[in-house]
Amino acid sequence: MKFYILTILPKYFDGPLSVGILGKAVERGDVKIEIINIRDFAEDLHKTVDDLPYGGGGGMVLKPEPIVKAIESIINPERKQRVIAMTPAGRLLNQKIVKELSEYEEIIILCGRYEGIDERILEHFCEDLISIGDYILTGGEPAAAVLIDAVSRYVPGVVGNRKCVEEDSFSRGLLDYPQWTRPAVFRGISVPEVLLSGNHKEIRKWRMMKTIERTLKRRPEIIREELLTQEELESLKKLKENSSVKK
Ligand code: ADE
Repeated sequence: MKFYILTILPKYFDGPLSVGILGKAVERGDVKIEIINIRDFAEDLHKTVDDLPYGGGGGMVLKPEPIVKAIESIINPERKQRVIAMTPAGRLLNQKIVKELSEYEEIIILCGRYEGIDERILEHFCEDLISIGDYILTGGEPAAAVLIDAVSRYVPGVVGNRKCVEEDSFSRGLLDYPQWTRPAVFRGISVPEVLLSGNHKEIRKWRMMKTIERTLKRRPEIIREELLTQEELESLKKLKENSSVKK
């Protein structure tokens, strides 16, 4: 899988893409990343990439010409490509979108800066606008790093255990169950007894219940009942009943 990053801050990516699991995947060539400096496509003497917004208002807007030239230098109809702009005005990223994007051969990611990107680019030259959350970053670069990290997990060979990726709880609208490691007692706080019992059936049931419980408590809006097992649905029903009794 290949990612092209269109940015006016190429140095930003020195760190996040070169360390950890992603860094290793890049080293092996499982994930390819090409950083493209939009400024290289500016044709005037000063390599201008931004200009004042029409209609006034503060800040600067990224100009269309250098961005289009950069995009057109990459576009190849023979490859399955997707052009995405990172913007807080995009659709909110989630695991379903991440998985969909992992089906592409190449993803071209445009990072915004300043007050925004000329709307003609977003409307006519990008196929998707993506936000990583309802908050404003100083630019699209951190958002691009997040997107690349999440999508790369689906590239074969990147995460050792494929089952972890395919069956991660988030894909089914659930938070993961909590984890503990040694020591069994830390500063007087014990690991839940059931996890020390060695009873795998009980442990599996307990984890399932914890998954439902914490999702219901912290992120009820992500639960997708149609994807839950009968056992999970029953647990959900019980927990909902209990909480309404308590209220
Ligand atoms: N650029 C600035 N804020 C952003 C966000 N929340 N998501 C994606 N791109 C952004």
